[in-house]
Amino acid sequence: MTDFIAGLPKCELHLHIEGTLEPELKFTLAERNGIELPYSSVEDIRAAYSFDDLPSFLKIYYEGMEVLRTEPDFYDLAMAYLRKAASQNVRYAEIFFDPQAHTSRGVPFDLVIRGLRRALIDAERQLGIRAQLIMCFLRDFQAEYAMATLLESLPYREWIVGVGLDSDEKGNPPVKFKAVYERARQEGYLLTMHCDVDQENSVEHIRQAVEEIGVDRVDHGVNVLEDPALVERLRERGLGLTVCPISNGYVTDSTKAEAIRRMLDLGLRVTVNSDDPAYFAGYVQENLAVLAEELSLTEEELVQLERNAFEITWLPRHLKDAYL
Ligand code: ADE
Ligand code: ZN
Repeated sequence: MTDFIAGLPKCELHLHIEGTLEPELKFTLAERNGIELPYSSVEDIRAAYSFDDLPSFLKIYYEGMEVLRTEPDFYDLAMAYLRKAASQNVRYAEIFFDPQAHTSRGVPFDLVIRGLRRALIDAERQLGIRAQLIMCFLRDFQAEYAMATLLESLPYREWIVGVGLDSDEKGNPPVKFKAVYERARQEGYLLTMHCDVDQENSVEHIRQAVEEIGVDRVDHGVNVLEDPALVERLRERGLGLTVCPISNGYVTDSTKAEAIRRMLDLGLRVTVNSDDPAYFAGYVQENLAVLAEELSLTEEELVQLERNAFEITWLPRHLKDAYL
């Protein structure tokens, strides 16, 4: 099965580029930027990755990105990810980035997006992997800051396919960003947002995302299973869900493999993704392998998962069809 998974053409739809910052690159960038890290080795860094819920993960995630300062830093970050993804036969990726995690510490938006964009272009030419960017707002910041970020992104509209919402969900429901999402839709962005696993009010957050915001897909969204009527609405609309088994295992007590099985059986367009692979020690191939093992997935089911992913991509129909 491992060989089958390795050879399968894959699609990644839930991947935070800042969550792909491996310890080795962290050291390189720290040195380049004259930053002293509070760790003496790669092993030291990995040993500090102890988290058991979303806030404890996010603390380490934001600390880690302090080394990202210049346009070449963002280029190197994205290029390293795309190389890794291409090595796992990922053919297409939609990549989240968190501009506010950088602008809030004085790193300009322009420099972040130019570095990422340049890597996407080079990777397509050099590695044959295609990718698009999704700009995420940080939900634990004020909605006004998200709106300002949305406006700041407009000169780069052609480089960004859609918007997302991430960071700490507690007390930060989807409706907090209703006006931001309305404007994003007017500007032609596609819409997604995190409804993280086992959060306070998870089901209500999924309902808000689908009914009140009108998202085009949902990131995570596993708790939808608690509300059969909501499952039916997602199914009717063909809304995709980007689920991340290994990440689930870190921020909750399980990979939620059984829930993923139920989502598949219910006809939901569920997909398997990696979230923050440098922190959770698993890219998309490892996520598929973990799930295949836990659920004894057949080759046909693995193919179905990747078909679901290519089907819900935000590519124009003719490009989508080329992967299917
Ligand atoms: N930012 C990066 N990874 C995240 C996750 N899994 N949930 C919420 N925000 C995130
Ligand atoms: Zn995520």
